[in-house]
Amino acid sequence: MTPPAPIKITPAFLRAMKGREPIAALTAYDYPLARLLDSAGVPLILVGDSLGMVVLGYPDTTHVTREEMEHHVRAAARAQPRALLAADMPYRSYETPESAVANARRLIAAGAEAVKAEGGRRIQKQIEAIVAAGIPFLGHLGMLPQSVLEEGGYHVKGKVESEHQALLADADALVQAGAFVVVLELVTPPVARELTQRIPIPTIGIGAGADCDGQILVTTDLLGTSPDYIPKHVKMCAHLATPMRAVVEEWMRSLTPALSHPMGEGGANPAR
Ligand code: KIV
Repeated sequence: MTPPAPIKITPAFLRAMKGREPIAALTAYDYPLARLLDSAGVPLILVGDSLGMVVLGYPDTTHVTREEMEHHVRAAARAQPRALLAADMPYRSYETPESAVANARRLIAAGAEAVKAEGGRRIQKQIEAIVAAGIPFLGHLGMLPQSVLEEGGYHVKGKVESEHQALLADADALVQAGAFVVVLELVTPPVARELTQRIPIPTIGIGAGADCDGQILVTTDLLGTSPDYIPKHVKMCAHLATPMRAVVEEWMRSLTPALSHPMGEGGANPAR
């Protein structure tokens, strides 16, 4: 039996959910969505840098700035969620241990309670420095969206033995560095299952099969309001954009034309 959820969800509580109950995690980028997810009981809310694509209209997450992340973290944090509120460290904001700690502190000052960055062994020193600074850290392995320019697209990881071995070593490095959770994005399901069995911290999958300790989605993908496309791994989607557009159209139809418009009746336009 899982112990009763505390008033405030902590990294230790999420970590202890491993093997007990599935961890549901979703993204939020502002106050109303953070309120809504929290009222539904979601224990982990991420201000993801997917923000760049689903809110700010950028082509990928590499364009998201530190200031934009902090602005949206502040908005989500105003919801004062019972959920743990985590935030993504934006592209190139954790190149050295010093810059990683300074930029993680900025997100914490904005209201985040944990930070996430992409990579394993490559950023182990940065993670150790963040954890040593007392900031809870979530890892992110598999397909790393911030590497889209280097990799020329978004590719599933774990299909070949070299990727499989790299994922095992990176997951071990994250555990060693003190991460309390690891997100596995687009990892082949057998490798995600092996990682879940191998490491003592929860794995939270996105497009990584059912055998992770939890699942995370970009909330606009789940609700069907993402403007561009819905990824293949999003199975249950509400397509809420359709009824939302219908409400707007209905409201426009409901507008009554003005009874007598001076322009419509050839009246004088004082502006001309
Ligand atoms: O930016 C984001 O929303 C994420 C999740 C997809 C895991 O990193």
